[in-house]
Parts: sequence; C-alpha cells; structure tokens
Amino acid sequence: MFPLSSERRVHRVGFGAMQLAGPGVFGPPADRDRAIQILRRAVELGIDHIDTSDFYGPWVVNELIAEALHPYSDDLALATKIGACRDDKGNWLPAQHPDALRSAVHDNLRRLKVDSIDLVNLRLHEGDTSIPLADQLGALTELQEQGLVRGIGMSNVSLEQFERGREHAEIVSVQNLYNVVNRTSADLLARTAELGVSFVPFFPLGSGFADSYAREHELLNKIAENHRATQAQVSLAWLLRRSPNVLLIPGTSSLTHLDENTAAAVLALGDDEIAELDALVADGESLESAGH
Ligand SMILES: NC(=O)c1ccc[n+]([C@@H]2O[C@H](COP(=O)([O-])OP(=O)(O)OC[C@H]3O[C@@H](n4cnc5c(N)ncnc54)[C@H](OP(=O)(O)O)[C@@H]3O)[C@@H](O)[C@H]2O)c1
Repeated sequence: MFPLSSERRVHRVGFGAMQLAGPGVFGPPADRDRAIQILRRAVELGIDHIDTSDFYGPWVVNELIAEALHPYSDDLALATKIGACRDDKGNWLPAQHPDALRSAVHDNLRRLKVDSIDLVNLRLHEGDTSIPLADQLGALTELQEQGLVRGIGMSNVSLEQFERGREHAEIVSVQNLYNVVNRTSADLLARTAELGVSFVPFFPLGSGFADSYAREHELLNKIAENHRATQAQVSLAWLLRRSPNVLLIPGTSSLTHLDENTAAAVLALGDDEIAELDALVADGESLESAGH
C-alpha cells in the first residue's frame, strides 16, 4: 500500500473509470449494466482506489459510480480531476478559472454523493498559462480548508509546474502519462518518489495497446510467455517495480481484463526481465520519440 493522500493509503492497483463512458469518453456506455457490474467487481476484487472525473461522459461515469457503489465502503478512495469541460460535440476544453474549479468540485461532490473527495487533481493543459497557477491552487486550498477536498494533486504537469505548484499547496499526488513505452515523465516519477508523493501514471497500458503496443512488442511477448501472463500484465507489473510510489489505475470496460489487471499485482518479474524492460526506452523518451 502507499499513501494516495496524507489521510489515505491504498492498494497499488486501483481502477481508472474513464473507459466506462461511451466511445470517445462521450455519452453513455453501450452496456450500462456491464459498466455497473465492472465497478462492483472492482470493489469485490479488493480495489480501494477509483479514478474518475465529471468530464467523463460528461457526468456519466460519476453517476455510474454512485449508482453502483453508493453508499461507499469506508475503505474506498475516490480521486477526481478538474480543469476541463466538454462541449456538446465532446471536444475537451480548458476550464481553469477559479470559479470553474470551485463549481467543478461541487459538481463532483454532488454526482458522486459524497461530502468530501479523497483526491482532486488539477489537470493542466499544455501551453495554457492564462490563469496563474497560484489562483487555481488557491481555489483548491480554500475548498480543502472547508473540508470538501482531502488531498490536492496535479495532472499533466511538467516538473517545473509541479515545483511551482508546491509553493502554493501541499501536492500529494501527480498523475501523468507514463508506461513501459513512454517514459517522458521520468523526471516527475523520480522527484515524486524522493518526496514520498504518489505517482499515478495515466495510460498505464498506453490506452489499449495503441501505437507501439500494436506492434506486438517482442520483449513484452517473450516475458509474458515466460509467466503465462499477458502483455498488459507484464506492463503493469513492470510499473509496480519501477518505483514504490507508483499507484496504478488501468482502465477497462471488460470484466476479463479487470481480473487480469488486478492479478498483475502478484506477477513477480525476474530481475533480469526488469532490467530488459528498463532498457527498452530511455528516461525522458517514448518509443515513438526514440524513432522505433
Ligand atoms: N489525467 C489525465 O489527463 C488522464 C488522461 C487519460 C486517462 N486518465 C485516467 O487514467 C485511466 C487509465 O487510462 P486509460 O483507460 O485511457 O488507458 P489504459 O489503462 O492505458 O488502457 C485502457 C485500454 O486498454 C485496454 N485494456 C485494459 N486492460 C487490458 C488488458 N488486460 N488486456 C488488453 N487490453 C486491455 C482497454 O480496453 P478494454 O476496455 O477492452 O479492456 C482500453 O482500451 C483512465 O481511466 C483515467 O481515469 C487520466
């Protein structure tokens, strides 16, 4: 277990709920009953950390979580993210004015049916510096003082933004893109490990074996065969070995994949296998940027 926030320790494999919305994370799922079943199965499997957002659907995923799991077990930590909204075509737009952030927290509280949220990640957008970070985090610390937000995290940030963020709030978690073929956030992983801050990689499976994964990577396949496991399980097991502050939130709309992903917590890769996977991509690079 590792602290997700100063008040909550969670198991290292959680669940990312984004895949429960319709195609393009927009609208309702094709099979609502199965989405509810997946959430309940996740909790049955011992998952105690669910990552969500009101902008998944929008609203659909938070409503599904409340329908499936409310009243929540005391052990379940809910993490959400704010800083974006959707237009009526499903486009993702920044929504980072302090007023928008405040109302996003209140919307999440209402839809999830909770009085406080364990972790709220402020999600930043590349190149958007129109609203000072101090103002954005200021809005979140006010909500924290009111007891509505327990921990504050940052998502989609550079190391420099994270360090600046820490001047304005206690940042207990970082959620950035990171997986076996994309190490572009390696600097943040190292820094958060040093500070004892949780690092929650998004797209831990490269969001569905897209791009490099689709090439059926030889090394991942070889290691998976050694353990009678799947590529996905090897990728997750490698992430867990990468650093003790890594907490996983693989996303799936499949019960079989949910079981597989949860079982990755006990897949023990050998030191030689870990070394081979470590060497696959240099820190700061991705397979694409390395020209593979
Ligand atoms: N902070 C941010 O900006 C941000 C951005 C993106 C995502 N997130 C969070 O990160 C979580 C994870 O991201 P994600 O769901 O997009 O990507 P992911 O976990 O990397 O991959 C999910 C994809 O992999 C497939 N998959 C899952 N388990 C599998 C398995 N065992 N074998 C084969 N395929 C498998 C899923 O398809 P099936 O449905 O068929 O299993 C889905 O297409 C999200 O749920 C969300 O909470 C955060």
